[in-house]
Amino acid sequence: PSTEGHYLRRVLVTGGAGYIGSHVVFALQRTQRYKVVSIDNYHNSYPKALSRLEEIARSGLRADATETEKQSTVIDAYECDLTNPADVRAVFEKYGKGGIWGVVHIAAWKAVGESSEIPLTYYHNNVTATIYLLQIMSEFDCTRLVYSSSATVYGTPPLVPIPETTRLKADSPYGQSKVVCEAVIQDLMHSEPKRWRAISLRYFNPAGAHPSGLIGEDPRGRPGNLLPLLAQMAIGRIKESTLQVFGNDYPTPDGTCVRDYLHVLDLAAGHLLALDALAPDSTTFDNCPTPARYKAYNLGRGQGFSVLQILEAMRTTTGFDYKYNIIGRRRGDVPDLTADPTLAEKELGFRAKADLTTMCRDLWNWQTRNPNGYSSD
Ligand code: WQD
Repeated sequence: PSTEGHYLRRVLVTGGAGYIGSHVVFALQRTQRYKVVSIDNYHNSYPKALSRLEEIARSGLRADATETEKQSTVIDAYECDLTNPADVRAVFEKYGKGGIWGVVHIAAWKAVGESSEIPLTYYHNNVTATIYLLQIMSEFDCTRLVYSSSATVYGTPPLVPIPETTRLKADSPYGQSKVVCEAVIQDLMHSEPKRWRAISLRYFNPAGAHPSGLIGEDPRGRPGNLLPLLAQMAIGRIKESTLQVFGNDYPTPDGTCVRDYLHVLDLAAGHLLALDALAPDSTTFDNCPTPARYKAYNLGRGQGFSVLQILEAMRTTTGFDYKYNIIGRRRGDVPDLTADPTLAEKELGFRAKADLTTMCRDLWNWQTRNPNGYSSD
């Protein structure tokens, strides 16, 4: 317990400087119940995101904030790669056995198309790294895990909206790496059911940014994802005004792929609910069959939008006169990934409230305040 007597749980966020990670760190800090440790290799993120987070956390403090509340604004940040277990172990060493209460494991490579070109890199960065992390967590008695999974584990789902009971059969090495990690985590839980608790969160399509515009999505190189690409086109960082649409011959209302977009802050709030569900006083696992101290939840809104609908929403938000050109399908794309969000709502109390207009508005606010993202030039 800290001086004030109430205990700040230390939580390690892997990928803490990334788009999702930084918003999860924001959510953890806002509760002032967690002390954040970030591990990131900055392969697809910037350290500057962490200093922006400390700025946001300090601005959120009351003038008479207690020592503990002030502690929650500081992020212990380490630059290291999860595929180097010695570096990761060194971080856990700093806090000793039991010093880190739980881990939110977000760091991963996540481009569906790219994963088909370099599968070994994807399995190494996503699966090997997760196994190393779990081994080190076990060594240091850190037995609470929130795992960042993905709707891509469903491949082309037989049923839409997609319930969690859907068989897991990914259509890309990326998606398969998430399927494998979920299986590794589940088997670890089954091996020591009294010791471990874990929740996998299957993200649908995160979008938007913190309304302050201080943190947001800033992928290195050309964005692979639709929304950051459209934002960078509108701000002129990408000198194109025509969106190449990857196919309009899908079995969907307008022929282009449908995705379930949710605000990144709603997604972050889902992580907090998951961490709380791993706490000793939680009842989430009470109705769990004994061995499985493991649950997986969809994080989505249950409402799908097509590529052309997203294009229209961003045209309205930015005022940019996008053109579009239909080209061939992209490898690994599936027609419709729309979540059935009811299980997370029922068991975690999760609701993704922000609508598409809010997501586009917050994304555009971030992009206009940071035309070059975190790059200072
Ligand atoms: C959305 C739609 C494209 C760009 C991604 C990650 C996945 C997951 C969620 C982590 C698709 C179309 C895109 C373009 C286009 N993240 N598109 N032209 O593929 O649903 O999933 O985010 O788990 O790992 O890959 O999102 O934004 O890439 O694409 O037509 O220039 O936009 O075909 O239908 P996706 P996306």
